[in-house]
Amino acid sequence: MEERVWRCSCGGLLDLEFEADFPLEKIRLRKPTMWRYREAIPISHDSNIISFLEGYTPLLEVDLEDRTVLFKEDHLLPTGSFKDRGASVLISKARELRVGRVVEDSSGNAGCSIAAYSARAGIGCKIFVPWNVSPIKLIQMRSYGAEIVRVPGSREDAAAAALGAAEKEYYASHSRNPFFLHGVKTFAFEVCEQLGWRAPDSVVLPVGNGTLLLGAYIGFKELLEAGVIHETPRIVGVQSSNCAPPMTRISSPSLKDTLPCSKWTSKIEPSFLRRITSSLRAPSRIGGPPF
Ligand SMILES: Cc1ncc(COP(=O)(O)O)c(C=O)c1O
Repeated sequence: MEERVWRCSCGGLLDLEFEADFPLEKIRLRKPTMWRYREAIPISHDSNIISFLEGYTPLLEVDLEDRTVLFKEDHLLPTGSFKDRGASVLISKARELRVGRVVEDSSGNAGCSIAAYSARAGIGCKIFVPWNVSPIKLIQMRSYGAEIVRVPGSREDAAAAALGAAEKEYYASHSRNPFFLHGVKTFAFEVCEQLGWRAPDSVVLPVGNGTLLLGAYIGFKELLEAGVIHETPRIVGVQSSNCAPPMTRISSPSLKDTLPCSKWTSKIEPSFLRRITSSLRAPSRIGGPPF
């Protein structure tokens, strides 16, 4: 995609049509970063890659009751969360598109990632945050040089303000721009490689907007389609009961409208919810165990 578009002309979300390739012998010899899966990341020219050598975080074995569980330590990524995976690819794409400034809305970690990678790229960055943003996250975003706009009101009001600004500026949205998910998906590549190119039985993921869940789903699906793995894991999304729009949607598939969250957090768009619910159900369609 060589245009600065981040949504369909109908207003809906975009998917990228992209064939991922996994030359395993070459990958094995590369640096331990998420960019070792270079042929599976939709950036045309290496010169546009914006990276802090992120990725290939450890899988930590922990004994829980009678079984061993593996924890993927993505808090060790440069700004402290998995969002760096998405930001690295999204801001690389912004550089490829010769974007001079991006806008984003966030209540914390995504804003930190987009701010840090924009700074690395020399791209201006404006982040719209809700009034009750965490003071620590605010300091972190500012420390990367981002311009911060504190929006009176909720997380949704911050998103609406960013959407307005996105009429004129490139929207580096972690929840709406498809390039973000094509960075997050490297989580799945790493897990499978660390298990000897085998999919885990199950992955348990925290879900807010669902970018980690969707990214993981895309990643496992690309590995399956490329014949690198032979089944996909059961994907379990965990939501806090205070903010569970996808879960509510799954339980009440007839709901058409956005679902309210707690007053502290956002509503999720119907199109995003539809995508999450189809991802959660998709493993049975593509050969994995049913959700
Ligand atoms: C550390 C961490 N885990 C999980 C989530 C939930 O991610 P998502 O909103 O993409 O589902 C977030 C989102 O901000 C996060 O920062």
